[in-house]
Amino acid sequence: MPMQLPPPLPPGATIGILGGGQLGRMLVLAAARLGYRAIVFSPEANAPAAQVTNGTIIAAYDDERALARFAAESNVVTYEFENIPFATAAAVADRALVRPSPEVLAICQDRNREKAFLARVGVPVTANIPIADAADLVAAVGQIGRPAVLKSARFGYDGKGQVRIDDTTDLAGAWAELQSAAGTGSGPAGILEAWVDFALEISVIVARSVHGETKAFVPVQNIHEHHILKRTIAPAPIAAPVAAAALDLAHAIARGMGLIGVMAIEMFVGHDGRLLVNELAPRPHNSGHWTIDACPTSQFEQCVRAITGLPLGSTAPFADAVMDNLLGAEADDWLRIAAEPGARLHLYGKDSIRPGRKMGHVTRLTARGASENGA
Ligand SMILES: Nc1ncnc2c1ncn2[C@@H]1O[C@H](COP(=O)(O)OP(=O)(O)OP(=O)(O)O)[C@@H](O)[C@H]1O
Ligand SMILES: [Mg+2]
Repeated sequence: MPMQLPPPLPPGATIGILGGGQLGRMLVLAAARLGYRAIVFSPEANAPAAQVTNGTIIAAYDDERALARFAAESNVVTYEFENIPFATAAAVADRALVRPSPEVLAICQDRNREKAFLARVGVPVTANIPIADAADLVAAVGQIGRPAVLKSARFGYDGKGQVRIDDTTDLAGAWAELQSAAGTGSGPAGILEAWVDFALEISVIVARSVHGETKAFVPVQNIHEHHILKRTIAPAPIAAPVAAAALDLAHAIARGMGLIGVMAIEMFVGHDGRLLVNELAPRPHNSGHWTIDACPTSQFEQCVRAITGLPLGSTAPFADAVMDNLLGAEADDWLRIAAEPGARLHLYGKDSIRPGRKMGHVTRLTARGASENGA
């Protein structure tokens, strides 16, 4: 007999969100639109997500009593960034539904596990070798050659915990530098990757529902400045077969992972149009913010739909879009942007401006172009 799936969570049910940043904030807003309540678990009071919900638990990620209370109040739990401790997700999963599952989180938290998973499902990645100590690094650079990049296996974001290895880099120094950035955890602390001479960077955001249905948004181009996402262009300026191949990879990864929720997949596009997957994020992603303003269903609503058991929504964009992050003092421009016809301004409610801090974003729409990269 086929397994009976539980009915979708009805409006009024509560979505628990681990993490209080801007992704959580936009998830809460999308959940509210569909009639769901949200409760935010965050170590920081007045976090961006905590400002837009009245259910908030301010506690440390290892506070077991607070986690138990959070689980008891949530009908389903998700997370808005992948660097929450695995033990936190596992403790909540003992008491509540956690989607995506802690197993998905464990893969995406560790670059070595992520690369092993991708290899297992036949997804192309750049040459890579796990690095546990300085001797491993010497051997791996001998094998992969230079240039390469040494990354911490865990807790990297915005290019932190990465050391480029070029012709003159001293390997002992590179290993020491990496170790000071690497967090604790099991398995090799580092990974060496061959440097990719790519034409451009793209990402695909894919959702998979409780029912196994998958849907993706069109591939977008991402432009980084100082390792931080600066601009996303939707759709990416790539040939239709390349876009189709990127979408195929995204659907295959979501299925292979048994994902329930949304996942961002970052890829490099080679000068020959070949794709290499760089990394996965099992949550809404900065490169999907444009979907709020240019698609019938945003990535945040899609996440809510996926984890509550609703049907996934349409991802076909009704406009092309350019999304610019407002980093640090760029957010001081809010009044000018607010006055700009057609500019869609989003501010995250962060009180202190720091250089490079993601304070908000602005999306500008244009008529849909001729390129048909539809999902
Ligand atoms: N093997 C590589 N070859 C060439 N460039 C790379 C390679 N790995 C990473 N980069 C560059 O560095 C950027 C950041 O790397 P990556 O996405 O792996 O790390 P991250 O710290 O998790 O970044 P983020 O949190 O912004 O996604 C990439 O977007 C890309 O521009
Ligand atoms: Mg990245």
